[in-house]
Amino acid sequence: MHLFVVLIISMWGAVAPQQHRVEDICTAKPKDVPVNPICIYRNPEKKPQEGEGPEADQAKDKIPEFTNRRVWELSKANSRFAVIFYKYMADSKSDQGNIFMSPLSISTAFAMTKLGACGDTLQQLMEVFQFDTITEKTSDQIHFFFAKLNCRLYKKADKSSELISANRLFGEKSLVFNETYQNISEVVYGAKLWPLNFKEEPEQSRTVINDWVTNKTEKRITEVIPQGVIDENTVLVLVNTIYFKGHWKSEFPVHNTKLETFYKVGGETCQVPMMYQEAKFHYAVVQNNRVHILELPYKGDNITMVLILPDRDRLLLDVERELTSEKLQEWLSSMKEILLSVYLPRFRIEDSFSLKENLQKMGLLDLFKPKAAKLPGIVADNRTDLYVSDAFHKAFLEVNEEGSEAAAVTAVTISGRSFPLNKVVFNANRPFLLFIREAALNTIIFMGRIANPCP
Ligand SMILES: *[C@@H]1O[C@H](CO)[C@@H](O)[C@H](O)[C@H]1NC(C)=O
Ligand SMILES: *[C@@H]1O[C@H](CO)[C@@H](O)[C@H](O)[C@H]1NC(C)=O
Ligand SMILES: *[C@@H]1O[C@H](CO)[C@@H](O)[C@H](O)[C@H]1NC(C)=O
Ligand SMILES: *[C@@H]1O[C@H](CO)[C@@H](O)[C@H](O)[C@H]1NC(C)=O
Ligand SMILES: *[C@@H]1O[C@H](CO)[C@@H](O)[C@H](O)[C@H]1NC(C)=O
Repeated sequence: MHLFVVLIISMWGAVAPQQHRVEDICTAKPKDVPVNPICIYRNPEKKPQEGEGPEADQAKDKIPEFTNRRVWELSKANSRFAVIFYKYMADSKSDQGNIFMSPLSISTAFAMTKLGACGDTLQQLMEVFQFDTITEKTSDQIHFFFAKLNCRLYKKADKSSELISANRLFGEKSLVFNETYQNISEVVYGAKLWPLNFKEEPEQSRTVINDWVTNKTEKRITEVIPQGVIDENTVLVLVNTIYFKGHWKSEFPVHNTKLETFYKVGGETCQVPMMYQEAKFHYAVVQNNRVHILELPYKGDNITMVLILPDRDRLLLDVERELTSEKLQEWLSSMKEILLSVYLPRFRIEDSFSLKENLQKMGLLDLFKPKAAKLPGIVADNRTDLYVSDAFHKAFLEVNEEGSEAAAVTAVTISGRSFPLNKVVFNANRPFLLFIREAALNTIIFMGRIANPCP
C-alpha cells in the first residue's frame, strides 16, 4: 500500500475560505492540545561546541517580540532545510532553468507524515527536515509549534495581502484510519480526512484531488497529480497548498515598464518587460561574496520579496554553491535603507517536480522503501506495509507592477533608457535568486531562481 505526499503551491491565487480553525490552536497552551503521536524521537544529547548551543544562539540572534522560542527555532529549522533542499534542486537542474518552490509547504507536508512515523523513518524525517535542531528533547511538541508558526504566518493584518494555507488528507474509504492521527492532523494542520475510493476508482479519485487543488488555488494549479500515479494500492494522499497574493508597498509605475534585454547564462539574451521604480528600500552590497541584496516589502503585513543578484561578472551558480542559511541571515542583517533605482523583470513562472529523488539524496531513505518504511500511526489496524511512493510539488509565481492580475496587461513599448546618474542601481537583468519571506520571523515561504523570465 502506498501513501502519497502531494504538495501544491500557488501564488497570486485568489482568496479562499480558510480551512483552519485557527483560533482554537492559536490561543491554546501545549497542555490544552494533546499531541501524542504514535512514536516519539528523543534528541541524542549533543555537546554544544564553542560558540554554539542554545546560550550562544540566544545571544547571537534576538528572538522577535511575542515569539515563542521554539517557534523561532522551528522557523530557523525550516529555513535551514529550505536552503539545503534548494541546493540539491539547483544541482539536479540545468543552471539555465528557473526554479520555484515553497520549502515551507514541503516541511509542512512531511511534518504531517511524521505524525505517523516510527523508528529510523522518524529519525530520518527529524534529521532531513532539521527538526532535530530544535532544543526540545522530544519530537512530539514540534507539531504544536508548527501550529503556532502557522498562526503567526497566516493571521492577516491587512486585506491587501493574502497568505493562505489549506491542507487535506484523502484516504481510501475501505480503511479505518487511526483516530488520534486524524484528530491531531485536523487540530494542528487543519487537515480533515476525505474518504475516496482509490481501490475501485483510482482515476476518478485523482480527478477529485486535482479538482480540489484547482479549486483551492483559483485555477492556478491543475493536474498536480500526474496520470497513472494513483492506483488501487493508494492508501492516503496528503495535500498541502500555500498561496500568496500581495501588493507591493511601493508599486512599479506601469508606464515605466519597457522591453529590455535579459542576459541569460551562457551568453544568450532575450527581451523581457522590465519594470522600474525609484524608492527607498533595504539594500546591501556584500563585498566578500560579491552579491547585491534587496528587499521589496508587500503591503500590510511583514511579507517581503528578497532578491539576490550576483555581480555582473559572477555566476549565480557560484553564489548558490556557497549559500547557507547562516550566510543568508548575515546578508539580510547587513541591509540598510537607501534610495535606489530598481529594475525588475515582469514575469510568470511555473515549476513542478517530484521531491523523492532529492530527499533520498539528503538521507530520507526509509520512508520511500516498501519494506523499511515505518508508518504504524496512520492506519488503525496495525498495517506495516505502508510507505510513501512519491511526493509532488507544484508552484506558480507571477510578479508584476502592482501585484494584481487585472493590471498585468500593459502596452509595452520598446525604447532605450539611460541610467540615472549618481544613484545606486539594482538592475535584475541577469539570473538572480528570489525569496518570499515573513520578515519578523524570517520564515522562507517561497524560494527560487529566475534564470529566464522572458515570456
Ligand atoms: C492510534 O495512534 C495512537 C498514537 O497516536 C496509538 O496510541 C493508538 O494505539 C492507535 N490506535 C490504533 C487503533 O491503532
Ligand atoms: C477525536 O476527536 C473526536 C471529536 O473531537 C473525539 O470525539 C474523539 O474522542 C477523539 N479521538 C481520539 C482518539 O482522540
Ligand atoms: C469548489 O468551490 C466551490 C465554491 O467554493 C464549491 O461550491 C465547489 O463544491 C468546490 N468544488 C470542489 C471540487 O471542491
Ligand atoms: C497492534 O500491535 C501491537 C503489538 O504489535 C498490539 O499490542 C496491539 O494490540 C495491536 N493493535 C491492533 C489494533 O491490532
Ligand atoms: C513586523 O515586523 C516588525 C519588525 O520586523 C515587528 O516589530 C512587527 O511586530 C511585525 N508585525 C507583524 C504583524 O508581525
